[in-house]
Amino acid sequence: MDANSQQIKATYKPKVFNNSESFIEGWYWVILSNDLGIGEIKPITLLGRELAIYRGQDKQVVICDAYCPHMGAHLSEGIVEGNELRCAFHHWKFNADGICVEIPCLEEPLSLKLKTWPTIEKYGIIWIWTGEIPRESLPFVPELEFQEWESVLGSRFVMNCHPHIMMLNAIDTQYFQAVQTLDIGFEKQELNPNAIIFSKYKRQNHDLLFKKIFRPLYKNPIYSICYWYGSTFTLTVGTDLRRCYVMLALRLIEGERVEVQTIFFTKKRKGLHGWLFNHFMLWLSNSLVQELINDERKILQTMQFNLKTPIKVDQSIMQLINHVELQKPLTWKSWLLARSPTVGRSPSSDTEIKENQTKWRDELTND
Ligand code: FES
Repeated sequence: MDANSQQIKATYKPKVFNNSESFIEGWYWVILSNDLGIGEIKPITLLGRELAIYRGQDKQVVICDAYCPHMGAHLSEGIVEGNELRCAFHHWKFNADGICVEIPCLEEPLSLKLKTWPTIEKYGIIWIWTGEIPRESLPFVPELEFQEWESVLGSRFVMNCHPHIMMLNAIDTQYFQAVQTLDIGFEKQELNPNAIIFSKYKRQNHDLLFKKIFRPLYKNPIYSICYWYGSTFTLTVGTDLRRCYVMLALRLIEGERVEVQTIFFTKKRKGLHGWLFNHFMLWLSNSLVQELINDERKILQTMQFNLKTPIKVDQSIMQLINHVELQKPLTWKSWLLARSPTVGRSPSSDTEIKENQTKWRDELTND
């Protein structure tokens, strides 16, 4: 077949993918749970926005905008009282919903609210939803959705590339074929509007007896990636006998770089044997991720991504770009809807999202 016949059209220039001015509305990792004790308050900057985070006496985490609605003191200088937060400057007090409940020099507090954000604590990490109400779930490993599992936190590191560039490498078919000499191609499946799965099944040779015997071990994908919110992805590798599960939680940081927190999962197993096996699998998962990252680090950190000439084997990358473009984009620092001067989901912003979704509807297939 003529090589040119394999070329496909690079439809539109992406506006969100690999753009350091915007990100997808969704769940993002903030800090480790162990780094925030009861009664403790800290300043954080996430996706360009300044915030304060504290843990009340009820152990619940509250994340709010950093600056006091009275005169702008940084609230991380304040004091946690029970489950409430008192500003250090004029001692106004806000409850866990951000409602002002006390102004010392007034008999009644004013009717005002400090902006707070939805949070969840899971996998040993505190997460934030960057919109008003969470529309989809926290990222999880799809293969473990209906199983008991345990997790441990892995390493944290920074790379000099956009999160999207780091993500696409895991489904770069040509890279697997050319550099890793692996025969790999993907089937895609949308889990929900914010999550897409790319899976690889092992090819079966039905003529060989021993392959028939071992076929049950390969009925699930041997390699599967699930991308969440264009920022976090899970990786599942192996047969039904031994399978590694990893989550890489990514976030864009200053200087167009990505900060990554790894989390490793295993199925829950009982007894000493189960404990030993699980620790072996966690070690194996960690080694796998370290090897993958070290192999790719130099190329990813020096490339200037521009998919000008996609060919058919780049199909998965195109599908991932389309998937990212279909989601709700927010602007770095303001967290307002990107490309719209209005706040939140006004009628005009809804129209804008619908138009974008029509434009970016994925026309590629798995053929
Ligand atoms: S600045 Fe916070 S109470 Fe005045």
